[in-house]
Amino acid sequence: MCGIVGAVAERDVTQILLEGLRRLEYRGYDSAGLAVIDEHQTIQRSRVKGKVQELADTFSENPFRGRVGIAHTRWATHGEPNVKNAHPHICRDIVALVHNGIIENQETLKKELISKGLEFYSDTDTEVIVNSVYLALQEKDDLLDAVFKVCEQISGSYALGIMSKIDPDRLIAVRKGSPLVIGVGVGEYFIASDVFALLPVTQQFIFLEEGDIADINRDQLIIYDAKRNKVERSINISRLNADVADKSGYRHYMLKEIFSQPVAISDTLEKRLNNKLIANNIFGEQSDEIFTKIKSVKIVACGTSYHSGLIAAYWLEEIAGIQCHVEIASEFRYRNSVISDNTLFVCISQSGETADTLAALSLAKQEGFLSTLAICNVAESSMTREADLVFLTKAGHEVGVASTKAFTTQLVALYLLVISIAKQHGLSKADEAKMVEDLQSLPGRVNHMLQYEDEIKTLAADFADKHHALFLGRGSMLPVAMEGALKLKEISYIHAESYAAGELKHGPLALVDKDMPVIAVAPNNHLLEKLKSNLQEVRARGGRLYVFADRHSNLNNSDGLEAVQMEADYDHTAPILYTIPLQLLAYHVAVIKGADIDQPRNLAKSVTVE
Ligand code: F6R
Repeated sequence: MCGIVGAVAERDVTQILLEGLRRLEYRGYDSAGLAVIDEHQTIQRSRVKGKVQELADTFSENPFRGRVGIAHTRWATHGEPNVKNAHPHICRDIVALVHNGIIENQETLKKELISKGLEFYSDTDTEVIVNSVYLALQEKDDLLDAVFKVCEQISGSYALGIMSKIDPDRLIAVRKGSPLVIGVGVGEYFIASDVFALLPVTQQFIFLEEGDIADINRDQLIIYDAKRNKVERSINISRLNADVADKSGYRHYMLKEIFSQPVAISDTLEKRLNNKLIANNIFGEQSDEIFTKIKSVKIVACGTSYHSGLIAAYWLEEIAGIQCHVEIASEFRYRNSVISDNTLFVCISQSGETADTLAALSLAKQEGFLSTLAICNVAESSMTREADLVFLTKAGHEVGVASTKAFTTQLVALYLLVISIAKQHGLSKADEAKMVEDLQSLPGRVNHMLQYEDEIKTLAADFADKHHALFLGRGSMLPVAMEGALKLKEISYIHAESYAAGELKHGPLALVDKDMPVIAVAPNNHLLEKLKSNLQEVRARGGRLYVFADRHSNLNNSDGLEAVQMEADYDHTAPILYTIPLQLLAYHVAVIKGADIDQPRNLAKSVTVE
């Protein structure tokens, strides 16, 4: 999703802007640009379609310097990815602006601006903002006042960085519906879409709140809230490390992240267990007390995080006997759902900035839920600030767009949640201790699953020329199959579908032939025999099967069936274990296909627009 960086300093800021953009690359983008106000008080700009490295190359051919600047990685929403649509956008060499978000009333505004003689050079919605600021400046003669005025005219979501040659030492930052942080340096300030972009220059951050506008000079920062009152916002010291984003010798971040799952899981468990039991109140102050009142749980999330919620629903109903409903955030936020008494609202998000999930959380806060809980991987995110209760997964910074370690640590968090709730509803100490034991052995067992990489790599070769694939699972393995299909489609661009294996004969069986590989996850549990019958249905129609099975599943290689027999004894944590081979399969298919694994086309890491 679009990324913003900006700086006001005594020194030239162009390299800070470029480095900031590099550090935002993981969010996904298709074009990039930067602009500064130079020593002649002229706005200088460089933009490219493509990668930040191409921007750096173009910039080094025609370099410029400046002490105030803004930069942007664009993920196209309005208008195709090309140079003219890339940010910063400039109006009449007076105002330059970068934007993350969507302006909903852009059509009306554009007509008005054209009727007033303003020109448009791009297909973006952003140009209405920069032109509106220019117009307001003619009247107000002050950049801040002009921005105040324009914020009343535009509707939608927007994080903005704005500068003007009429006030060349000033940067205005606006946050409404899209994230923006201010980095505090010594005699310098920075803005960015996330903390990570600015870690090389500061560890001190101010998180702007909804509707805030910041007026930034080198030696002064004034923040106005949504009602335009001056406000103080506290400075937070980030504990993130600027160096986390190296590949540590792996070819891709995604592979590094797949292999870091044992560590990510043990980090997530750290301090959450006590004497072989779950520690008290790990979901926030008085969370255990709140859990005693729970009658049902509503989980809301998007994409991979939604899949983790689906698995949690199986656990919650089976282990705690508590009703659980899971919903996609973009659906939940636009329908009138019925909320029964004493329902806990849980949102799950790696980034904590996903627009739909964030909107669902805001809605939930007004809707009479018992309490709201965010399970999130980013401590300094909008969701963790908004929810009543917070649980941080400790996956570490996830760079690959396709989520891997964030997913498995979400599952660990959700399993801890289910046990914590079940404890308050009659779970025996012996059962709790057994589940905790399973969790404690999980890093080692996940590590073992990673050892099947070579075998999976061999299978991946069979997929490279395929256009479709079908993933099957039963019970809590159904969301695992869904996640496997999502991973394959997002990084290898192979069309993949997932089905409950029992549903095959109700339709999808019609698709099965020798060109449709069918992948199944087959732990040795009470559903194994049922699953085997479903697999027979596939083989009888000439379908080729790839089965990730427990070594005791008695599923052996034979004509039309490739079985990876794994040491993966069944317990509730099996969905976590069986996710690993599917991640590796997707990864290796994408490697063979030569795809851009860490930044798949059209996708963004942090989906901050609707
Ligand atoms: C897929 C993937 C996405 C995200 C989704 C939600 O690999 O990463 O489906 O899971 O965009 O993002 P978060 O978890 O940040 O809310």
